[in-house]
Amino acid sequence: IRRIGVLTSGGDAPGMNALIRAVVRTASAHDISVLGIRRGYSGLINGDIIEMAARSVDGIIRKGGTMLYTARCKEMLTDEGLQKAADTCRYLGIDGLICCGGDGTFRGAQALSRKGVPCIGVPGTIDNDIVCTDYTIGFDTACNTAIECIDKLRDTMQSHERCSVVEVMGRRAGHLALHVGCAVGATAICLPERELNFDVDIIEKMRVGRIKGRNHHIIIVAEGYGAAQDVADRIHEATGIDTRVTILGHIQRGGSPSARDRVMATRMGYEAVMALEAGKTNRVIVFDDNRVTDLDIEEGLARQKDLEQDLFVAQQTVAI
Ligand code: F6P
Repeated sequence: IRRIGVLTSGGDAPGMNALIRAVVRTASAHDISVLGIRRGYSGLINGDIIEMAARSVDGIIRKGGTMLYTARCKEMLTDEGLQKAADTCRYLGIDGLICCGGDGTFRGAQALSRKGVPCIGVPGTIDNDIVCTDYTIGFDTACNTAIECIDKLRDTMQSHERCSVVEVMGRRAGHLALHVGCAVGATAICLPERELNFDVDIIEKMRVGRIKGRNHHIIIVAEGYGAAQDVADRIHEATGIDTRVTILGHIQRGGSPSARDRVMATRMGYEAVMALEAGKTNRVIVFDDNRVTDLDIEEGLARQKDLEQDLFVAQQTVAI
């Protein structure tokens, strides 16, 4: 192969820049030229494309966001949009495409692969909700950002003897909420994947906690579970405890990537280029059993990913 393209699509995630850097530098080391497709698949449809060289990615490993911008491109779901994207690849002599994002991004890559454009997906989302991989780029940094914010909240909750109800991102999945809740020592975590008995799993725990001398509480609510305000209202109604709501929101998507995200992005970016060079297509790079490897996209999206049950049990046990 002589020329490849790289794009980031869907919600941005810290480490996407490190991924772009790894792709560009790996390609450069193998005498492959790289085109940066801007704004996800819409850059392919609209020809929003830049040339990239080893030096054009200097210094970006430590930067949050994505220098190629990102978008959720509805046009890719239409036959016309898809055809335009495939035509652009053919016209520009793109022999392979690396697409970093979530499962929507992989469906786009799969559709383009069927049109004859070799595509490799790389998991990049703070949600860590992609079924075929144990890790997605951005998850660790988002966890750390949320933890830093909630540690600050704890200071003021402790001083006022209040209950803090914190809404954490994750779309329909609770991975981010579970990890963050565990790491901040939350009294309870509301997750979309686990049924919750409000009286037993929250109110009773708060009551026991109080008896054991805890004067304040942190309750984590995954956005996929429901509104943090409703949870806070119910807690206040049942306990009379002064309760405050914080929605962390998009702050969780920003910031300089952690060591884990930089390293993982580098490994995955390298593997993605090597996969294209080996003539592979319609594959997704995954972290599985402590190894970075690749998997058929179809097979990858068909797998089931549940929460880490061991972590869930451990968190529940040590909560109060
Ligand atoms: O998928 C990443 C994510 O941040 C989710 O956690 C969240 O539900 C969604 O994106 C928010 O999307 P947007 O940035 O379009 O509001």
